Amino acid sequence: MARVALVVNRDATDLHNDGPPLLDAFERLGIDTDIVGWGSGPDWAGFDGVVIRNSWDYIFDRDAFLDWAGEVAAVTRLANSLEVLRWNTDKRYLRDLEASGVPIVPTVWIEPGDDLPGVVWDEFVVKPSVSAGARFSARYSRGAEISGHVRQINAGGAAAMVQPYVGSIEDVGERGTYVFGGRVSHAIAKAAVLSSVRAPMEDLSASSHQLVSGTTVEPRVSDFALQVVESAPPLLYCRVDTVMGDDGEPILMELEATEPFLFLEHATSAAADLFAASVRDWLAS
Ligand SMILES: Nc1ncnc2c1ncn2[C@@H]1O[C@H](COP(=O)(O)OP(=O)(O)O)[C@@H](O)[C@H]1O
Ligand SMILES: [Mg+2]
Repeated sequence: MARVALVVNRDATDLHNDGPPLLDAFERLGIDTDIVGWGSGPDWAGFDGVVIRNSWDYIFDRDAFLDWAGEVAAVTRLANSLEVLRWNTDKRYLRDLEASGVPIVPTVWIEPGDDLPGVVWDEFVVKPSVSAGARFSARYSRGAEISGHVRQINAGGAAAMVQPYVGSIEDVGERGTYVFGGRVSHAIAKAAVLSSVRAPMEDLSASSHQLVSGTTVEPRVSDFALQVVESAPPLLYCRVDTVMGDDGEPILMELEATEPFLFLEHATSAAADLFAASVRDWLAS
């Protein structure tokens, strides 16, 4: 029987709401699962595959996470791949996707040592290139003093990303479209979390109150999600987060290919089955 590790935060022991449906789906396929925190731990070579699930605490120590992933990849199969994890844990990957023709939220990148640019947007966002859960992200109005925020982001080596505040997020929201094994699975709608001007927070509290609901997969968003996946290195699973641009067409907010929470409670059991079947096929490939 195949044995798979499902990887969670260093100090975590469960998969939250994704747990019951996902574990059931693996069981239906006869795949044994262990839930394991990343970092030191079991003999990773003892697993046929190691699948990263809910490991958002890596943002506090990205280097340690990638070192650990490298050790795992040296002894067994890792998904997503080490190459994807190195690329996807820093939103600078958005520049590669943009260069491949994927429309992204317009972004001014401020690298460590760069001068502060003038900001042309009336309402805008400053956020770090290494983030989860809207950590250390904030919304500002034109003329606001952002240098302290930017330099704090840069101090950790990340780029500061300055973007126009995308107003459509207030009414149509953000969409998250899941692609497992190259096939669109299900979608969620996420309400705005930076809807008022507030100080940036180091923790992940902005997203802990985010409203998430299930939604239908719209064909143009689904097509867009597949375009993003085709422009990325090979992915076993991901969530493509989109917002609507001024012309009503989807644009990319982020490609979550490291630790996308699956929100399976908002999907049918077909979603968990597709995830598990994608893992089974990957193990056999
Ligand atoms: N340009 C933007 N316009 C409006 N809202 C934004 C913008 N950028 C980020 N946000 C809000 O902040 C949240 C977190 O930003 P995101 O880029 O997805 O980073 P992460 O989820 O990795 O922290 C988004 O889900 C969205 O609600
Ligand atoms: Mg996000």
